[in-house]
Amino acid sequence: MPALEVVGISKRFGGQRALNDVSFTANRGEVHCLLGHNGSGKSTLIKVLAGFHQPDGDGRLLVDGASVPFGSPVEAHQHGLRFVHQDLALIEKLSVTDNLALGGTYIGKRWLSSRRENRGAEEVMRRLGITDVPVATPLARLSASQRAMTAIVRAVSQGGLPSVLVCDEPTASLSENEKERLFSLLRALRDRGVAIIYVTHRLHEVFQIGDHVTVLRDGRNVVDSLPVTSLDHGSLVAAILGREPEAFYTTPPAPSLEPVIEVEGLAGERVRDLSVTVHAGEIVGLVGLMGSGVEEALPLIFGAGATTAGEVRVRGRTLKPGHPDDAVDAGLVYVPGDRKRLGGFAHWPLSSNITVSSIPSVGPMKWLSRRRERASVLTYLTSFGVMPASPKAIFSTLSGGNQQKVVIARTQHSGATAVLVEDPTAGVDVGAKPAIYAALARIAGAGGAILLMTSDYEEASMICDRVIVLSAGLPVAWLSGDALTPDSILTASLRAHSDDGATADA
Ligand SMILES: Nc1ncnc2c1ncn2[C@@H]1O[C@H](COP(=O)(O)OP(=O)(O)OP(=O)(O)O)[C@@H](O)[C@H]1O
Ligand SMILES: [Mg+2]
Repeated sequence: MPALEVVGISKRFGGQRALNDVSFTANRGEVHCLLGHNGSGKSTLIKVLAGFHQPDGDGRLLVDGASVPFGSPVEAHQHGLRFVHQDLALIEKLSVTDNLALGGTYIGKRWLSSRRENRGAEEVMRRLGITDVPVATPLARLSASQRAMTAIVRAVSQGGLPSVLVCDEPTASLSENEKERLFSLLRALRDRGVAIIYVTHRLHEVFQIGDHVTVLRDGRNVVDSLPVTSLDHGSLVAAILGREPEAFYTTPPAPSLEPVIEVEGLAGERVRDLSVTVHAGEIVGLVGLMGSGVEEALPLIFGAGATTAGEVRVRGRTLKPGHPDDAVDAGLVYVPGDRKRLGGFAHWPLSSNITVSSIPSVGPMKWLSRRRERASVLTYLTSFGVMPASPKAIFSTLSGGNQQKVVIARTQHSGATAVLVEDPTAGVDVGAKPAIYAALARIAGAGGAILLMTSDYEEASMICDRVIVLSAGLPVAWLSGDALTPDSILTASLRAHSDDGATADA
């Protein structure tokens, strides 16, 4: 008997069909990959399973053969469905222990966790093979993979092992090494008989962890529960897009000697001594394992971290440490990786989300002209493949990947020439990545300078002129030309890591 049977589920939002007669089945002890382009309906389907959305028409949902009524999160939970949503739904200010206790039953009832409750949380983690998540620490201070693991542990520790665990893009911003740890956790759960539904845009992961695959395209399932062994990368891309992907070509911008972003001896909490110069026309990559300081680097440069030493100059102007407003004045643009926390204005239409950074340069008369704004915005929405390509659409109703495209479109629209950007394609589908790479190449081609923090080593090797590998807060490898490949990045970061003797995160 399948663990999960989804039969004929449909869902409309206004005139738009987010799901159109979707069916698939998943078995216990397997990882079932749910794939599809941005806006294809994956998260909507998951929210229907979770009882958050009521579907239209007469679809059915069965768990271990028992019918689950729609529209009730409590019933979904009682039938053994558990969820890790795209935004993880954790509370940043609370500790790991408190987050595990939220809505759960296994741990104490008080809000502030005591030592005993922390021990309980540690024990829950340990039973799942996790020993390096500090449970008393607020989520805000943990790495992306520690947060993702907390979300998964919370989901599976509430009321016994579930029949079905649904994970909506838990690895969107994790690097290769961090992902391995998450995969071990998922494999352990799978081997204990849980059916895992796994959403990702990183197609090589399908072959690392997947057993079966279902693909949604425009709300319909075009692949229904096929074994991974019957598919390859090309057939997945074709199923997801329904067409060939565009090739990504970039002509390297002419090298320039003009320094645009200069970082000298910068130090913060994790970063110990970072110096890097990005010249006009250059894209420089910054990569590293979690804990290497790579996550802190760009906020620190932007003045949004606790700088303890060093200096940042933008086109010769020295920035005041700890003053992001001064960085903005100097023309530095920061595109954070966590689009949910810092990226978009949820209740604004797409038009305002794209033009918001450009208002000063557009002038008082022009920005009053809504119609003109919408026309220029439409061009951007179309070129980035945002769906729906409607300037009036409200940001928060877009799918995760489409929100990400809007945030990047804004950067290009603002005419920025000194840009710090984190993981610009996290959660972006295989069809839309070329548009984002082309936008970054256009900014560089027009004499801009880009410092890119990325967890995607293939992306780093493809679009960067140079890549700097950080370890233990220090740059340890500089890669360029033929020496710059995904493998060389991985090797450099692992080697540096083991040289430090810092093995806790490996
Ligand atoms: N609350 C809502 N109101 C209006 N439209 C919505 C709402 N939620 C989702 N949609 C629309 O439904 C469609 C499917 O969105 P969904 O979030 O399910 O996509 P997805 O496959 O998860 O994409 P991604 O990979 O980008 O996360 C999109 O066109 C989206 O704009
Ligand atoms: Mg989604």
